[in-house]
Amino acid sequence: MIVSGVLLVADDDNQRCTLRNGTLKVSEGIITEIHWDEVTPSADFGGPGCLITPGMIDAHLHLPQFPIIGAFGLPLLDWLRQHTFPAEMKWHDVDYARGVTQAAVEDLLRVGTVGIAAYATVHHEGTKAAMQVVDQAGMFGVVGQVLMDQNGPAGLLREIGSLIDNASSLCQDFEANDFVRHAITPRFAITCSMELMQQAAKIAKSFNSHVQTHLSENTDECKEVERLFGMTYVDVYDQAGLLGPRSLLGHGIHLDGKDCQRLSERSSIIAHCPTANRFLNSGSMNAATLHQHQVSIALGSDIGAGYERSMVRVAREAVLNAMQVAGGALSCDQMWYHITAGNAAKIGHPHCARIAESCPANLVIWQPSIEWMIHPTNEPTDRRLDTLMFNWDDRWWRRTLLQRGSKNQVTFI
Ligand code: GUN
Ligand code: ZN
Repeated sequence: MIVSGVLLVADDDNQRCTLRNGTLKVSEGIITEIHWDEVTPSADFGGPGCLITPGMIDAHLHLPQFPIIGAFGLPLLDWLRQHTFPAEMKWHDVDYARGVTQAAVEDLLRVGTVGIAAYATVHHEGTKAAMQVVDQAGMFGVVGQVLMDQNGPAGLLREIGSLIDNASSLCQDFEANDFVRHAITPRFAITCSMELMQQAAKIAKSFNSHVQTHLSENTDECKEVERLFGMTYVDVYDQAGLLGPRSLLGHGIHLDGKDCQRLSERSSIIAHCPTANRFLNSGSMNAATLHQHQVSIALGSDIGAGYERSMVRVAREAVLNAMQVAGGALSCDQMWYHITAGNAAKIGHPHCARIAESCPANLVIWQPSIEWMIHPTNEPTDRRLDTLMFNWDDRWWRRTLLQRGSKNQVTFI
């Protein structure tokens, strides 16, 4: 199979992407050859005027919340009570959970997202069904059964023992799966006892799993955590043993220098969710402060508080947010890297979202209607990644190609 066009290529040393013309040869789902600076009109996919990106990665989203995207006007804790928890309760019906996930996966593939770090709900069978749907769609990443044992509606609270049994059995069931794994997912400190979080951290260690939770998103939430536990938000997770290099912590807005220092010592990752932060009016994460403390970030849509499915749109919001609050700390070429190779490494699949020899051909074909794509010139090209990001139009999407390596199965949507 031949795929050709303007390629979005990762520059790992500088944690940025660049654009370069090229033609890819794909054999059995793997990129076997790249002929740089050539675009062939006889490609199977792409050709002159096409942009080829790696599949994109969303490092924080909630599968059961696709049906409530746009529930506008409330701050976090009220939004959870009034919209989110009722939507998640519906997942006691496994067929409903499967259907919502199927629709979500189709939406994601059509905006080029091929890998996810996703929350399901507290329901074991619903979570398992969601993981199977993600796997069967050819996507990759982590999905977690949400853990909650306090301060929530009765329909979503469960005994610690059964939650921990469920979580370990999902880790076990998906341990041998190269594509979709189970992430330990305590929702956030308000809805989790210290005992639950400590036990959850133990399973995460024993399976070397990712951990997903929320951290310091909203000031009322932070105050409530301090009231409940008598310590800072970061200290709660640290005492529970939840902070490590595979911990993806959603939001991380209201953090001081000491918090950042601790996150940096634990090598934990902040999943930056700029669209959701704006939608719930939670505040603005400061990318410059995190960078100063060497805390790494991933990017997430945080659907359904986030209202954008496309990771390019989330990246655009991150750039604009950083310009407003952090002196332009994030550039477009860095954000292109984050939503592809950068996020992929952080969710445990470092090779799955990059255009390079020997990498799986998870590729998205786009046909941008912008002047320099339609009529290429030899003009300087250093602003092209900016213009692409800010002109981005989901209607440019043509195809998402996924591969399944050893199973040697290529999926096209
Ligand atoms: N904090 C706890 N649960 C959630 C959730 O579902 N969405 C967001 N944005 N924040 C949370
Ligand atoms: Zn979230």
